[in-house]
Amino acid sequence: MPTDTQSLLVSVAEPAAQGIGRLQLRHPQGLPLPAFTAGAHISVKTPSGAWRQYSLSNHPDERDCYEIAVKREGRGRGGSLSLVDGVRAGDLIEVGLPQNQFELDERASRVLLIAGGIGITPLLSMARLLQSQGKPYRLIYLTRERQSTAFADLLSSPDFAAQVVMHHDQGDPNQAMDLWPLLEKAGSVQSLQLYCCGPQALMDAVRDMTGHWPASAVHFESFGADTSARAEDQAFEVSLRSSGRIIEVPVGVSILQALRNEGVHLPYSCESGTCGSCKTGLLEGQADHRDLVLMDDEKATHIMVCVSRAQGASLVLDL
Ligand code: FES
Repeated sequence: MPTDTQSLLVSVAEPAAQGIGRLQLRHPQGLPLPAFTAGAHISVKTPSGAWRQYSLSNHPDERDCYEIAVKREGRGRGGSLSLVDGVRAGDLIEVGLPQNQFELDERASRVLLIAGGIGITPLLSMARLLQSQGKPYRLIYLTRERQSTAFADLLSSPDFAAQVVMHHDQGDPNQAMDLWPLLEKAGSVQSLQLYCCGPQALMDAVRDMTGHWPASAVHFESFGADTSARAEDQAFEVSLRSSGRIIEVPVGVSILQALRNEGVHLPYSCESGTCGSCKTGLLEGQADHRDLVLMDDEKATHIMVCVSRAQGASLVLDL
């Protein structure tokens, strides 16, 4: 929970695409809101009681509102789910001050933005700023299909269309856009800067393809838990209750990935412990919870397998 919070009025709560809600938040007395810069996010207290972070997608010069888009993810009491389903125009919600760890570098003469799915939000704020400044930029926006593409109409409008490439892969990896031609030639701090926000798999792919870029020219946004391996990490086993199968989870590999490698496919989305999609029943063993999703009273019986690990040698999962 952030230390400084304010109560804001939900002035708009409407669908932005299939499974995505758009909220506009204003000061209840119409006062200007604390300023933010493109790429910033705010923490929002969801009706489930959990705090979640959402990027601001509006133009940073707008001081009268914050705009966020929320993907309806997770099950049960998931924070995002409760925000999309449970919040209506006219409600008051608790919000933290804007923070920015994904700031646009004003030195760049050209900017490449790569968004995957709901990762469009901070990049849309950047695109709006760059557009208004007349600066050269390109936005690559990768989604599954048009109907689940937030802000698709806006980004197809004459203001943006010339700068935006929208690609839908229909959920088929064979139809994924090949980013290599765009990334093969390295950018530099003074010329091309790259900003990427989206699912972990997209950010990993872009990170791999920009290994030859200067580190300061490539920027990623992830609100997730820290998914990097820790010094104390050990390999462990998970056993699946229904089949009795035992699957080893090596250091540096998530339970989700280890299961996937063995042909056991679970729902997932963020792979960073924030969306709630991969929530799995935990029947035995002590989990090392590293997610930002589970409530305290769920931790003895559930585990988010995309980030969390075992404290001991094994876990038994309700799979
Ligand atoms: S919490 Fe999103 S995939 Fe695990």
